Amino acid sequence: MTIAITGAGSGIGAATAAALRAAGHHIIGIDLRNADITVDLADPAARAAAVEEILERSGGVLDGVVLCAGVGPQVPDPNLVVEINYRATVALLDALLPALRKGENPAAVVVSSVASTQIKWEDNPIAKGNEAEAFARAGDFAGHYAYASSKNAVTVAVRERAVEWGAAGVRLNTVAPGSVETPLLQAGLDDPRYGEAIRNFVAPIGRNGKPEEIASLIAYLVSPQAGFIHGAQFVIDGGIDAQTRPTVV
Ligand code: NAI
Repeated sequence: MTIAITGAGSGIGAATAAALRAAGHHIIGIDLRNADITVDLADPAARAAAVEEILERSGGVLDGVVLCAGVGPQVPDPNLVVEINYRATVALLDALLPALRKGENPAAVVVSSVASTQIKWEDNPIAKGNEAEAFARAGDFAGHYAYASSKNAVTVAVRERAVEWGAAGVRLNTVAPGSVETPLLQAGLDDPRYGEAIRNFVAPIGRNGKPEEIASLIAYLVSPQAGFIHGAQFVIDGGIDAQTRPTVV
């Protein structure tokens, strides 16, 4: 299989690229650094150029797409969190669908977050189109608000595409990790605004996840063994969602 992976330079994306390479697949890694295609996905023109390069390297045919690139709540500009985690992700999904349609057993996986469940779509400032003002009013909370909004929006965007993508024969799912030991988590822990809350966000299983554990779920979801899984979100969080929302099914 030929599989394009954003965020392949670090953390969950790097672990996913390693797992899929080890399984014999051809990986096209996309990231700010340590990747086949180096690009700043926050820049709409640069990401359009990256799409062209992905199509060139894949011959216009992709069997898999895994979108891991993202930034955490500690990034100073909350609008950048939305641009990378939500807008860039959706732009790549839509731009790469034609190549996926030509693939064999094609599938895409987007890395969302358990944070996607911390806000309702009806209350999401991205849904209302007023996120810049909403974040400006949020003070110290803006980063987390932007992160949860961006992840909620990306999960909704995937679910909204289930009908069209299913009809096109391309499966599309999200994974929603809890805390996973990566540089992104470490940056949050090091931030005086969020460090304590993240440290207290301990899963019932008693530890944080490892990038390889998320990678193995992603590898399964892009494989033909997951052929009937479509439009779904898979929480992979050591039980923290069950702990915080036991009655939500
Ligand atoms: P990471 O920081 O190790 O990897 C993220 C990668 O995305 C980096 O290689 C980074 O260079 C790349 N990236 C960021 N901005 C970019 C841009 N503008 N253009 C191109 N590439 C860019 O972090 P991690 O944890 O592996 O994150 C992967 C995904 O998992 C993210 O979407 C994150 O939100 C999500 N996630 C992570 C959790 C955690 O606790 N680590 C929990 C839930 C979700």
